[in-house]
Amino acid sequence: MPLLRAPLLMLARNERARVALTSMPATAQLVSRYVPGPWLEDALDAARALEADGLTVSLDHLGEDVTDPADAEEVVEAYRQLLAGLVERRLTPGAEVSLKLSALGQGLPDGQRTSLEHARTICRAARNAGTAVTLDMEDHTTTDATLQTLRELRKDFPETGVAVQAQLHRTEGDVRLLTGEGSRVRLCKGAYAAPASVAFTDPLDVSRSFVRCLKVLMAGAGYPMIATHDPRLLGVALALAARHGREPGSYELQMLYGIRETEQRRLVAAGETVRVYLPYGARWWGYLVRRLAERPASLRLLLTSLVRR
Ligand code: FDA
Repeated sequence: MPLLRAPLLMLARNERARVALTSMPATAQLVSRYVPGPWLEDALDAARALEADGLTVSLDHLGEDVTDPADAEEVVEAYRQLLAGLVERRLTPGAEVSLKLSALGQGLPDGQRTSLEHARTICRAARNAGTAVTLDMEDHTTTDATLQTLRELRKDFPETGVAVQAQLHRTEGDVRLLTGEGSRVRLCKGAYAAPASVAFTDPLDVSRSFVRCLKVLMAGAGYPMIATHDPRLLGVALALAARHGREPGSYELQMLYGIRETEQRRLVAAGETVRVYLPYGARWWGYLVRRLAERPASLRLLLTSLVRR
């Protein structure tokens, strides 16, 4: 499957593939596994249900790689409405939001400034709602820009978190710089294609890097957010938390909506803080392709239904 990962991930940015596949019933079925629905109400209902099971959430308004500044402004408005909805449903302060800077125009001319200003607006709305923002990490070419934006945002909103990708060679070094008091770092393996010049390509090396980063985060003064469904890495995380005398609540485990749901609840029952990343919206294509690249069984289902057409 690692061999298929890169070509599959290229589909995430392929408009023809998106148009051809999005109308298929099998695709709709797959999407519903990973995304509760296109509307804000769908996300808020799902958040309420997860909360009732003792889980907490980070909501993501789906969308990425905007090419029109007006679209970036629409994304800001969507986050305003999301945060208002969270307050109205009394889901804050537990519920947080996750944000992709490419959805705020990071890739546009002058995108660094534009996306920072938009992110600032959303951080302010999150602060007023009693909650915080975590910046997702995207394609490796944007890592420096995203970390620069994080540094700027943290001057006014020190509660802002960021995701880092263990698959990148640089991440252990980044994590050392990010692990200070008050920092919130989400460690994940990395869902984007990246060349061998910057990334580990063997899954075992990605896991080894994940463990090295985990050690730094768990020993540090910040708040580690361990984002994985991998049972071995979860075991290592919990063992390191115990070794460093970290009580549940001084770190958290994070998983994606629809993945290993029984395990999410088992960990909650064991006293762990578990946050579910909850994406919603109509622009689910890139998100779905990344989930398929991680999961050969789902891909097989889609291909089988294509052949039967
Ligand atoms: P791995 O892929 O080895 O999966 C371990 C097990 O989990 C599998 O054996 C299977 O049981 C289950 N599983 C995993 N993926 C599945 C799927 N798609 N469908 C069904 N079962 C599946 N990435 C990124 O680049 N930037 C980011 O900002 C984030 N943010 C983020 C937030 C949160 C909360 C999570 C959990 C993950 C991310 N990711 C991410 C994605 C991350 O980088 C990674 O691609 C996925 O989590 C899959 O890697 P695992 O560590 O789960 O291991």
